[in-house]
Amino acid sequence: MMEEEDEWGLWDRYMDKIDGRRKVCGMDLAELANKYGTPLYVIFESIIEDNYKKYKTLEKTYKNHLLCYAVKANATFALLKLLSGYGVGADVASEYELKFALDAGIPPEKIRANGNCKSDYFLEECVKRGIIINVDPEEELYILNDVAQKLGSEARVNLRLSGFPLENITSPNIFTCGGWTKFGTDIRRARDVFWNVKKLTNINLQGLMVHLGSQVTEVNAYADALNILIELVKDADDAGIKIEEIDLGGGFGISYMGEKGWKETKEKVKEAGFHRTWQDAPLGYAYDTKREELVWQGEEFYAPLTPDLFIERLFSDPLQSKLKEIGSPLLVLEPGRGIVGNAGLTIFKVCHVGKTPNGQNIIHVDGGANCNSQSIITPEQVHRMDIINDDKREDPFKTFVAGNLCYTGDLLSRIKISLGRKPMRGDFIVFYDTGAYEDFFASNANLFPRPARVMVSKDGRDKLVVRREEYTDIFSRDMGLEEMI
Ligand SMILES: Cc1ncc(COP(=O)(O)O)c(C=O)c1O
Repeated sequence: MMEEEDEWGLWDRYMDKIDGRRKVCGMDLAELANKYGTPLYVIFESIIEDNYKKYKTLEKTYKNHLLCYAVKANATFALLKLLSGYGVGADVASEYELKFALDAGIPPEKIRANGNCKSDYFLEECVKRGIIINVDPEEELYILNDVAQKLGSEARVNLRLSGFPLENITSPNIFTCGGWTKFGTDIRRARDVFWNVKKLTNINLQGLMVHLGSQVTEVNAYADALNILIELVKDADDAGIKIEEIDLGGGFGISYMGEKGWKETKEKVKEAGFHRTWQDAPLGYAYDTKREELVWQGEEFYAPLTPDLFIERLFSDPLQSKLKEIGSPLLVLEPGRGIVGNAGLTIFKVCHVGKTPNGQNIIHVDGGANCNSQSIITPEQVHRMDIINDDKREDPFKTFVAGNLCYTGDLLSRIKISLGRKPMRGDFIVFYDTGAYEDFFASNANLFPRPARVMVSKDGRDKLVVRREEYTDIFSRDMGLEEMI
């Protein structure tokens, strides 16, 4: 647990602590780790369902909507089938994600195709099935027109936009709607595009799209973007284009820590010398020349609003009335992290407890950044962590957490965390809230196998949904495999 005695937020509702052992949704985590080995990803059906229900409160505030789960957040077939059963659609960003979603039973009309580099094959498959494509960048319109023409068909598209006047709403690495982004078409070009697109005989421009970025905790950022899109709907109308859909992408942030704990962590990281960060780096902070002070520029790891409250706030008046005025277009949301982020955790085993040459505590665990992609995407990422096999509290132990890969930057936490006691070799450490993007960069670095994933069902049973790789899996593409075995 973090040094600051923090409220456990969402996990509180699902967690029991019995004789120092952790149980989540009735499942003893140490038992799971012993049964399946580590590192181990675990996702919980009850939490996924609860998260889905929070998004579904849209039913009350804005009836004409569609939820498309962002497959990239956690591409597990059992999870996709579960969501498909709830009636959820999919945001897919490659032909592979598309096939995966279709195989899980998600109907084409509930799929939105994203990506800034779509192959001809991906575009063709979408056109053939009538799947709506979020065009990104503008040049894709012309390519897609040719593709659709060759198929003697029509491409249904939303125009993905960026260049919005928003700043510091999340980490720059996952902020996707400003000026410095590879995604979308500049909003200042939107009107021209509306007129140009009319010359493209096989394009049906039927919607507008923006994905602000990931881990956005500010409702106002969404409100600002939506206001701009609503104005553009009127411009499209002037050009004779009927906008039937607004896709607001994903990005609602989740809490990785409680409010108090997160505030204190930020303050401590900012303290002179940054003694709580790896290499004493100003992690997450940058100097703001206007304000003449250090300003937090990374992600916010505390989200004051759960998705239901976020939705209630965003789709109340005046935005609700404005949407009505433009004919209540279909509102698409593409949540990933908000559905699975805090429905999952990762268990590692402690290998060593040591010190760096400059005297910093460091624990070494049996999985690296390839099992914990957040530490690559946003190095300032923090997770609640805990010893789960026996968490009797002694003196808190403040430490960095290193992975098992052969490079110095392979750290699972670059901000010192505090455990209830000094761990020992063989202890299990849990990282909470790792359901989204943890295996985004999963690889066989150092030829380690990729971890297994277990789903805990609502009735408290564990089911292996992705098995751990074996030696032959790791080398399955190597033409010399037969010689090796
Ligand atoms: C186009 C698009 N939609 C949806 C998402 C999902 O975002 P999140 O997981 O933050 O909800 C992403 C991920 O960044 C994305 O790129």
